[in-house]
Amino acid sequence: MFKSVRVNRRARPKTAIVFAFADRRVASRPPKPFSPRALAEMLNRPEFTEEVGAIAEKVLPIGRLIVVGLGERKAFSPATFRTAVAAVGRRLRTLAAGAIALTPPDGLDPSESGRAAGESLGLLSWDPKLYKGSATTGRAPYDLTLTSSNEKFLDGLEFGLTMASSANLARSLGQTPPNIATPMWMAEQAKQLCEETNMTCRVISGEELAAESLVGLANVGRASANPPCLIRVEYRPPAPKAQKKPQKPVVLIGKTVTYDTGGLSLKVNNGMVGMKGDKDGGCAVLGAMRAVAELIQPPFPVVALLAAAENSVSSDSFRPDDVLTFRNGVTVEVTNTDAEGRLVLADALCWACDAENPACIIDLATLTGGVVTALGSTYAGYWCEDDSLRKDLEEASQATGERIWRLPMHSEYRDMMRSPVADLINSNPNRHAHPIQGTAFLSYFVKTGIPWAHIDIAGVHKTTVDKGPYVPGPTGFGVRLLAEMLRRRSRGTK
Ligand code: BES
Ligand code: MN
Ligand code: ZN
Repeated sequence: MFKSVRVNRRARPKTAIVFAFADRRVASRPPKPFSPRALAEMLNRPEFTEEVGAIAEKVLPIGRLIVVGLGERKAFSPATFRTAVAAVGRRLRTLAAGAIALTPPDGLDPSESGRAAGESLGLLSWDPKLYKGSATTGRAPYDLTLTSSNEKFLDGLEFGLTMASSANLARSLGQTPPNIATPMWMAEQAKQLCEETNMTCRVISGEELAAESLVGLANVGRASANPPCLIRVEYRPPAPKAQKKPQKPVVLIGKTVTYDTGGLSLKVNNGMVGMKGDKDGGCAVLGAMRAVAELIQPPFPVVALLAAAENSVSSDSFRPDDVLTFRNGVTVEVTNTDAEGRLVLADALCWACDAENPACIIDLATLTGGVVTALGSTYAGYWCEDDSLRKDLEEASQATGERIWRLPMHSEYRDMMRSPVADLINSNPNRHAHPIQGTAFLSYFVKTGIPWAHIDIAGVHKTTVDKGPYVPGPTGFGVRLLAEMLRRRSRGTK
């Protein structure tokens, strides 16, 4: 953790970082006044292994020189560079290095490597100790200043750092416990972001939820003393950027269940612990909106819908056997109150389709334990039947390292969600194709013809390992993926 990470083009560095490949050839020259002569000996030390992120250091009268391994030259990519920079970032955390100089490595465009380095160091600066109190002591973090003689690399660093700070917003919201982060608290955070960034915020709650037929939110949130709401954040392009003819918005939807007890279908065997993370889809969407407003500024509108509710238990809980009639007329027999995410998302999807005239819809949700069984924490599962949206997402995934893997949709899966009583059941008692059932259910709430992607982040929204640029806790997964996807769309202006 750093107190801050900043770029200063005129800083006088005391530490220089140089990169080298596994073949012990340097990939970047030491910045002045460091000389390449010091390097030969360092590269031959036993600690400079062939691994990505191997480190050798030397303290010279003019300052400290650190050489960082990039692994095999032919496998070098922005992903490897992020890993290498995270390794040296971890070392810098313990050094109180102050200002450091970096030189871009061969084999990548400097704006691309700068961005990867900025993202890595920015993610590493996130403070996991937000809720530590007076019984915790530790070393005070310091300000890290980055400099370089390469302008494109510096621009990339600044871009990457801003991207990371948006992901860090999502992580801090995710880390916030459910006694603080209620649905209305999430709405307050959204309003605050909108004030800071010139976006607009609307919160639909109370009787307005019923008036708008947002029955999923009203029912899932009914048992809690912390009332549910639909949070709508809108980005509009600044006047000179806006196109002549009005553009359809890209709509981002986030599952924002601030706590998931399972409801009357109560979670058992410790399955409830950690369910503060059930809001991480919404947190990621809010983080992405910050990146949209501060960094990407697309020439088309972007609308975020956060479906926020606490799935709690009381005598006024919604129950298994209840039948709900959704905004689009589809009726749902509740078979399991723990399949609540799809109910609140159904509201947001209906709203997006009939109130926003969307160019496309992307939803992010910690929807199923089944996707964790299927893909672990390595990939998010995703579904998308639109070739063009699929391409945009997969390219953004490649560029950011936020990995997604497409799973199938088929009418047979949709048939599994049919109810003998109503149109649909919200959960089939068998667990066949479990993560696909959730998507099949959601598909009934998306109008045909609107490109839609559903991303199930249940396996990737948090991590338990201290690795790369992440520490145990929320990862902010989806912020960089969505922001990058919108950046690519902005360039193409589809
Ligand atoms: N929020 C959970 C899914 C989840 C599980 C997220 C583990 C993160 C980690 C979701 O609301 C849920 O309870 N899903 C059930 C669905 C079932 C009752 C149909 C599940 O996956 O078991
Ligand atoms: Mn649940
Ligand atoms: Zn849930």
